[in-house]
Amino acid sequence: MKENLTINLKNASGFISGEEVLALAQQSVRHLDSLNAGTGPGNDFLGWLSLPDDILPQLDRIEKIAKNLRAATDTTVVIGIGGSYLGARAVIEALSHSFSPLLKTKHHDIIYAGQNICEDYMADLLQLLDGKNYSIIAISKSGTTTEPAIAFRMLKDHLERKIGKPLAADRIIAITDAKKGALRSMAETNGYETFIIPDNIGGRYSVLTPVGLLPIAVSGIDIRMLVKGAKAMEEITRMNKKAATNPSLLYAAARNLLLQNGKSIEIMVGFTPKLHFMSEWWKQLFGESEGKDGKGIFPASVDMTTDLHSMGQYIQDGQRILFETIVSVKTPAKCLTIPLEKDDSDQLNYLAGKRLSEVNHNAELGTTLAHNDGNVPILTVNIPLLDEYNIGQLIYFFEMACAISGYILDVNPFDQPGVEAYKANMFALLNKPGFEEAGKKLRKRL
Ligand code: PA5
Repeated sequence: MKENLTINLKNASGFISGEEVLALAQQSVRHLDSLNAGTGPGNDFLGWLSLPDDILPQLDRIEKIAKNLRAATDTTVVIGIGGSYLGARAVIEALSHSFSPLLKTKHHDIIYAGQNICEDYMADLLQLLDGKNYSIIAISKSGTTTEPAIAFRMLKDHLERKIGKPLAADRIIAITDAKKGALRSMAETNGYETFIIPDNIGGRYSVLTPVGLLPIAVSGIDIRMLVKGAKAMEEITRMNKKAATNPSLLYAAARNLLLQNGKSIEIMVGFTPKLHFMSEWWKQLFGESEGKDGKGIFPASVDMTTDLHSMGQYIQDGQRILFETIVSVKTPAKCLTIPLEKDDSDQLNYLAGKRLSEVNHNAELGTTLAHNDGNVPILTVNIPLLDEYNIGQLIYFFEMACAISGYILDVNPFDQPGVEAYKANMFALLNKPGFEEAGKKLRKRL
């Protein structure tokens, strides 16, 4: 039987007691009930709850199209921003070779675009793509988000000039709303293959739809195992009213109790660079879900042990408003030992014969103890190893915890009204039709 994700609250016990956590987690079963009954805020965005089952009929088609793209091209550019990109990148980077784009044997590279409006990035990308045989997956639920829309216009133009319009149309897949948005109409006009993002699933909860699964499948990762892991976590959390055995309830309760104790910043910590984008995905999930109405825990992240040499000082010794959540991976996928050196000139022979992972694990334990001594509570999410099944569990675990945590905070965890503010100003400053008057007013403030 496979080992499941677990949560360890021991290193937060100097700040919040196990009894308190359990009590709040048990009280929060009512939020689980609201999610399942669809009676809470944002109840029109609950499609993610049953995705591990609902997505199954689509997997054949996702795999087939992924296979076609892999056969026809050596590179896929994934265009999207926020929830339309981070989930795919988090999974792909967690499960791929650390240097895949540089591996001569690598058969398919994934490159990302549409997450910035940086001219240099786009110029460099177009230069790189001059020499690549590539396809495009354009992802936008609204079909109108500025960053991916600009990237799509430029890359489509590049691809059409490179291989001609008819062949380019075969190499472009659009993932968007069923009916509305510019991407939908462009797909229909040009005959692109499309996937639908369901109305009842928000961007940051969409990784287990084609939004995440198509790019992940194109990268060569087993999406069935990913979904299977998510299903296992659905079974552990969704109907489980015994808080002591429901890790999502426990995590949601613990982080809210820490907030009530003045810990308003949560740092996601990974001891492998492969989790870097998992932290980015997590930051969006929790930041956009909870940061509203003047509430919420500010989500930050560090990569260890790298950032012990940059952020370590602050975490150890700065303002005591932090807590950490470590995603601890028990077993590495690979095996490497430190060699013995005859003259021990670097004085590392005390490590000779040890696995690198043993050193890393002790760095993790040492950091946990040191930060605890520095009054930083630590929650630890344990996963057995980085593979599709466990990453699937991790995704569903965090999504469920986030929804419960939002309800504990009494916010709607499924909207993001604040994201519109910068867009309106940018449109006004760029004289987008309909925004000219607002633009005049804004320019006076600059
Ligand atoms: O989670 C969200 O809803 C957002 O991050 C969106 O995914 C992001 O803004 C991109 O939107 P769209 O998919 O409409 O282009």
